[in-house]
Amino acid sequence: MRRAVCPGSFDPIHNGHLEVIARASGLFDEVIVAVSTNYAKRYRFTLEERLGMARQTLASLKGIVVEPMGEGLLAEYCHDRGASAIVKGLRSSSDFDYELPMATMNRHLTGVETVFLPGEGHYVHLSSTIIKEVASLGGDISDFVPKAVLRAMSQEQSDAAG
Ligand code: PNS
Repeated sequence: MRRAVCPGSFDPIHNGHLEVIARASGLFDEVIVAVSTNYAKRYRFTLEERLGMARQTLASLKGIVVEPMGEGLLAEYCHDRGASAIVKGLRSSSDFDYELPMATMNRHLTGVETVFLPGEGHYVHLSSTIIKEVASLGGDISDFVPKAVLRAMSQEQSDAAG
């Protein structure tokens, strides 16, 4: 069984993530979407909410499992689950510059390889951060996020409006 891990904060998951996860599932028998927790980070959504949105969105796809990654090393997490690869999408050369040392470190730590997939053109401008900013300023994000995320973000906006 060829297993890969797609790690991330997924705060929230968006269409750029989904496109990479779907392509990864064509390359591996099983893809674990590993939702991270980093106590140094301030997330918009709780871990349970981030897991819930990813699970609802990916429920119909075969061979994809969504689970919490915990706060430890990604390389150890992959090793513990028998995953031979980490899959990451690359939107730009700056993504590559950021990812390369981590990929090399992860391989040194446990031998896990990193597979980079070039991002699809119409999603390369997406990040969870930019989507949250556009939404918070009243912009339309419906082209960029799955329905479960759109619902959660609209709910948040209306709660904030009181
Ligand atoms: O979506 P994000 O926030 O960019 O995801 C970052 C993630 C989870 C991939 C990254 O923070 C990570 O790899 N965390 C695990 C901690 C770890 O292994 N650190 C050493 C990297 S060499």
